[in-house]
Amino acid sequence: MIRGLVIREAESKDHLAIAKLVEAAFGRPAEARLVEKLREDGDMVLELVATNAGELVGHIAFSRLDIAVEPDHFDALALAPMAVAPDRQGSGVGKSLLENAHHMLEERGERLCVVLGDPAYYGRFGYTHDRASKFESDYQGPALQALAWGEAPQKGRLTHPGAFSEL
Ligand SMILES: CC(C)(COP(=O)(O)OP(=O)(O)OC[C@H]1O[C@@H](n2cnc3c(N)ncnc32)[C@H](O)[C@@H]1OP(=O)(O)O)[C@@H](O)C(=O)NCCC(=O)NCCS
Repeated sequence: MIRGLVIREAESKDHLAIAKLVEAAFGRPAEARLVEKLREDGDMVLELVATNAGELVGHIAFSRLDIAVEPDHFDALALAPMAVAPDRQGSGVGKSLLENAHHMLEERGERLCVVLGDPAYYGRFGYTHDRASKFESDYQGPALQALAWGEAPQKGRLTHPGAFSEL
């Protein structure tokens, strides 16, 4: 754990600072808009922030992703976006956010999370393309990775929250 770093659930008073942080990390506004749209649409499941001396230095979001496994549906998660303040990147903030989030999600009974991102980064936290390779998805490809903590489908049609289609 990094000294002075606090990981907690995001509150509405954080929303403006989160938008600024996410935009700064990605260098464009699209991902900050994604966060807002996920909230508006009621698709957000968990948002954590990392603060240091009261300053927001990181943010991570998990939203509801549907897996259609005929005739049923499975409630999985999509991890996106994840952002660390540019001057704090590479110091373990992202790792703390991810590890805390995984722990909380597992405690809440969540079982599977999907991410679209750099395998060199997410692979460090257990995400693999192999676990996601049999899913049908508009985003199928090497960047589509999954991590399961419990029993969860291996196959099925993934439907990301609608906000992703606006990215
Ligand atoms: C990607 C991001 C969230 C990672 O957060 P971070 O706080 O910089 O990452 P951490 O310091 O926790 O890194 C954890 C480990 O991964 C490594 N790492 C960091 N970025 C990496 C990358 N792109 N590829 C591979 N490894 C990476 C770190 O060296 C560290 O390794 P260590 O544990 O051996 O020291 C952050 O860099 C960021 O906000 N980037 C811009 C926005 C973005 O691209 N978000 C992700 C979109 S999918």
